[in-house]
Amino acid sequence: MAAEKDKVQAIIAKHRGRKNNLMAILQDIQAEFRYLPQDCLRAVSETLDIPLVDIVGVATFYRAFSLKPRGKHTCTVCQGTACHVRGAPRILDEFEARLKVKAGQTTEDKSFTLETVACLGCCAIGPVVVVDNDYHAHTTVRKVGAVLKKYRK
Ligand code: FES
Repeated sequence: MAAEKDKVQAIIAKHRGRKNNLMAILQDIQAEFRYLPQDCLRAVSETLDIPLVDIVGVATFYRAFSLKPRGKHTCTVCQGTACHVRGAPRILDEFEARLKVKAGQTTEDKSFTLETVACLGCCAIGPVVVVDNDYHAHTTVRKVGAVLKKYRK
């Protein structure tokens, strides 16, 4: 807890304690903890003298921020029409079964957060799964295990 507060204060200091650096501060906190812990947001609020409700408003507006703990890896399974007709729902089922979570959830060991998206804009290589920034083209149910294995270290 104290270490967490020190990290937040170091991040705020790095951005010179300026209110107009709020986005950058939140990005750094997100990068450090993989989400925005409530205590950290409270510390930012008190240190920068910005109402907590305003900070939460920013944090909930941008998809890049999460108020819930996230996994080390983010696994996004496209469920758009082009991927859907090529078996994306079954691929999602396989990820959910192997990770023992539903889409939108994080595994208990915080290894993976499983998400879906409506279209990644690369329909020709679908079904597409993105893990962190790696695109896995033409994914099949049988490839799911190998995809996960690559990131389970
Ligand atoms: S529908 Fe999956 S990439 Fe477009």
